[in-house]
Amino acid sequence: MEKIVVLDFGSQYSHLICRRIREFSVYAELVPYDISLDELKKLEPKGIIFSGGPSSVYNSDAPMPKKEIFEMKLPILGICYGHQLIVNNFGGKVKHANKEYGSSLLIIENDSDLLSGMGESIRAWMSHGDEAEQIPSGFKIIGHTENANAAAIANQEKSIYGIQFHPEVVHTEQGTEILKNFALKICKVKQEWTMETFIENTVNKISKIDGNVLCGVSGGIDSTVTALLIQKAIGSRLMCIFVDNGLLRLDEEKEIEEMFRKNFALNFNSINAKQQFLSKLKGVTEPEQKRKIVGEEFIKIFTDFAEKNGPFKWLAQGTLYPDVIESGVSKGPASIIKTHHNVGGLPDWLNLEILEPLRELYKDEVREIAKILGVPKKLLSRHPFPGPGLAVRIIGEVTDKKLKIAKISSKIVEEELEESQLYDKVWQAYAAVGDDKAVGVVGDERKYGNIVMIRVVDSIDAMTADWTRLPHGLLEKISNRITNEIEDVTWVTYVVSSKPPATIEPQ
Ligand code: XMP
Repeated sequence: MEKIVVLDFGSQYSHLICRRIREFSVYAELVPYDISLDELKKLEPKGIIFSGGPSSVYNSDAPMPKKEIFEMKLPILGICYGHQLIVNNFGGKVKHANKEYGSSLLIIENDSDLLSGMGESIRAWMSHGDEAEQIPSGFKIIGHTENANAAAIANQEKSIYGIQFHPEVVHTEQGTEILKNFALKICKVKQEWTMETFIENTVNKISKIDGNVLCGVSGGIDSTVTALLIQKAIGSRLMCIFVDNGLLRLDEEKEIEEMFRKNFALNFNSINAKQQFLSKLKGVTEPEQKRKIVGEEFIKIFTDFAEKNGPFKWLAQGTLYPDVIESGVSKGPASIIKTHHNVGGLPDWLNLEILEPLRELYKDEVREIAKILGVPKKLLSRHPFPGPGLAVRIIGEVTDKKLKIAKISSKIVEEELEESQLYDKVWQAYAAVGDDKAVGVVGDERKYGNIVMIRVVDSIDAMTADWTRLPHGLLEKISNRITNEIEDVTWVTYVVSSKPPATIEPQ
């Protein structure tokens, strides 16, 4: 498949560049900036993008692209730090400037194929400390902002371009159009990337593996799609295992088992491990420790099952890209935000190889695949649920009482959103609970009960999220139901923090 290769110089947004390009059906792949020339050539890119990154080109340890890349006679687009690399490589000057974050007006000048069709100006999203002071000979300025004279440069003869801003970020107007101009007009790459081709290629790749596969399924869309893809590839050599860890949503264990048995002809096993998980979590309050414990217990159960029912060579998981990047184990040097149990929590002693066919994908891409594979509507529209389950929605120790509060109040939130036809419009909606208490009055009597936090967010890919502006009447109804139906709750609060700086889950 024809493709664009993105060299990762360490920006949090590196993978978003690929994602935006894939949105217009062009295959884009992220590789480390220091990939060997042989490997890069093997990928047969039609064009190369240098991502942004936190370094300065004049630092002695700055990551640099191999000189030979410029001799491959391929179109190159440098973004932010990548832009500075281009300026630096061709003999221009990069200087330390005042930090510029956020939206700036980019004035477009001089016709260029990169910025054609953009009109006179666009809002462009900046996040940089250095800037190009002097552009190299052979290049012309094609756009400037108030603070950056050379915010966009081009050497059309060599098809080499640099832009100081981030076209991959939604805040840049027509950012996708810029990437489209680069990929389609300049690199002339074919639009061959579709979820149908992803399925075909993935099934093809998996069908070549030997040995049996054990796949942990949670009832969520990611692990279900993982299982269905593997089944398509290797049929009965796949065994699915569902673990009830006692940290699921209200009555979910029964629903999941029923759904799997009814809809999919998979080898399906269900294991009740409620007590095992809850006893290990007893007394534990630290969020990362809770995540580690849940992750380890899952692996213990999987390996135990594999030993008794094997032989298995592989353990398959529905890991997605946001899990990978936020666990700090991506190819680029992104920092750890949370240890997602299925990525950062795998122990050294695990003697199964890991199969993660969705590791490069975002949730909406997985949803598209699920639709193609005929996954039932109910599962398709089910909100994401974290691997460590209610352990990360309960602040402090996981106790039976807090589990009960979290389960019932989350059910109420979901029911009321469905009733208002808002469930499908929001990304996630649940109730969290901690140890904080507040005084209430019930039937003239004082009651000291728990505080429940309602969290409803809008998001496209879970990398960022905004709190949903729910109608006040709906919040009132949810609050009334929770305090009336759950004896131990006196206060209901609504979380109005976005991601960043908050995260979607409280822990
Ligand atoms: P945060 O809280 O990091 O969550 O903003 C981003 C998205 O990931 C989900 N999440 C997880 N998913 N394993 C998962 O498979 C995990 O350990 C995990 N932790 C958070 C979360 O529900 C949200 O959709």
